Amino acid sequence: MELVKDDLPIARDAGTELSGFESRLPEHDADARELRFARRWLVVIYAMILGMVALGGVTRLTGSGLSMVAWEPTRVLPPLNETEWAEELARYRSSPQGRESNAWMELDDFRRIFAWEYAHRLAGRLLGVVTFVPLLVLTWRRRLPRGKLGAGWALLALGGLQGALGWWMVKSGLVDQPEVDHFRLAAHLALAFFAAHVALFLAIRWGANAAATPNPSRGLRVSTWVALVFVCAQVVWGALVAGKRAGLSAPTFPDFFGRYAPSAVLGDAPRWLEDPLALHYVHRVIALALVANATALVAQTWSTPRLRRSALGVLAALFVQIGVGAWVVLAYVPTGAAVLHQVVGFGVVSHLVAFATRAGVLGRPSSVARTRGEPAM
Ligand code: HEM
Repeated sequence: MELVKDDLPIARDAGTELSGFESRLPEHDADARELRFARRWLVVIYAMILGMVALGGVTRLTGSGLSMVAWEPTRVLPPLNETEWAEELARYRSSPQGRESNAWMELDDFRRIFAWEYAHRLAGRLLGVVTFVPLLVLTWRRRLPRGKLGAGWALLALGGLQGALGWWMVKSGLVDQPEVDHFRLAAHLALAFFAAHVALFLAIRWGANAAATPNPSRGLRVSTWVALVFVCAQVVWGALVAGKRAGLSAPTFPDFFGRYAPSAVLGDAPRWLEDPLALHYVHRVIALALVANATALVAQTWSTPRLRRSALGVLAALFVQIGVGAWVVLAYVPTGAAVLHQVVGFGVVSHLVAFATRAGVLGRPSSVARTRGEPAM
């Protein structure tokens, strides 16, 4: 996805063009600088969430996610001496995982899994600071319009919600089963993707030249929305697959043990949301639907080079993602490949969000484009 550096970040607000005279005022320079600063801040948030998604993936895949059994949102330091480590290990041993599946762990093994979960939580807090402090400065300076500041605060609220959701997920693995609930895992991952892409959407939108935002045709609008719905479903299904370790259920590709549909979905009452093979099957079917949909987007934007390039980016990212997905299943879900699959999956969503924003499907088409009666895409 190419983040267009300068889609003319001149407007005081999306949908407002400044006259030539107004745009030369020193006050306007300060406003434009503020907007540039805010866009960079959004891109940093987006990149940090991507980093956290990858770190969260490593945490899960190394079996480290249940090593911290208390929620201490203000805690910054890890255990610092042998006594504190012994206490931390004792707490872990009182949890189902520490008591059952990992009862064999000694302090050194425990330190290793603790390190990943600790890093993930600490990165979350750092992200909170990186979101909050610049937002406070922006609010204090009052150079950004209220709507934009409101969007920034909403983003911060999403971050807070994500922290709470993370703990809600971990809690489900501390009760009786040493596994987190796969629906809660899906909610946690989906919210991370959502928050990151709200940041990306705003960063693109705030830099967009209002007058150049196209007014898409009904057909393009429908196909883009269908793709957005499919991609959301795909992220949720991917997380359900991960939560149920369903990648291990069919180490064959593109078939399922020589058949195109596993018996799990052909019986009388498939358990679509519980059976690992059924989850795995649906995840692959949605991938095919996405490819068909992205092909339609390319065809529909063929005569508009900028959007065609963007749609081709979505399609290319999908093919890479399917290749990585095949690698994940054929190699029995190695950590490196599975994390790469998460990162490329993030890239697929980003390409699509960037496409939808540039095509004028996400966010209202600018009033300028509408009143000028610009040709429908
Ligand atoms: C084409 C679009 C696709 C997208 C956007 C996508 C996205 C995702 C996402 C977001 C996850 C969750 C990762 C996590 O929580 O750790 C996931 C998991 C997974 N996906 Fe996909 N995926 C796609 C296609 C495929 C295909 C075609 C396959 C198989 C051939 C596949 C196999 C898997 C497996 C096995 C997992 C679980 C990995 C684990 O246990 O860590 N994916 N996918």
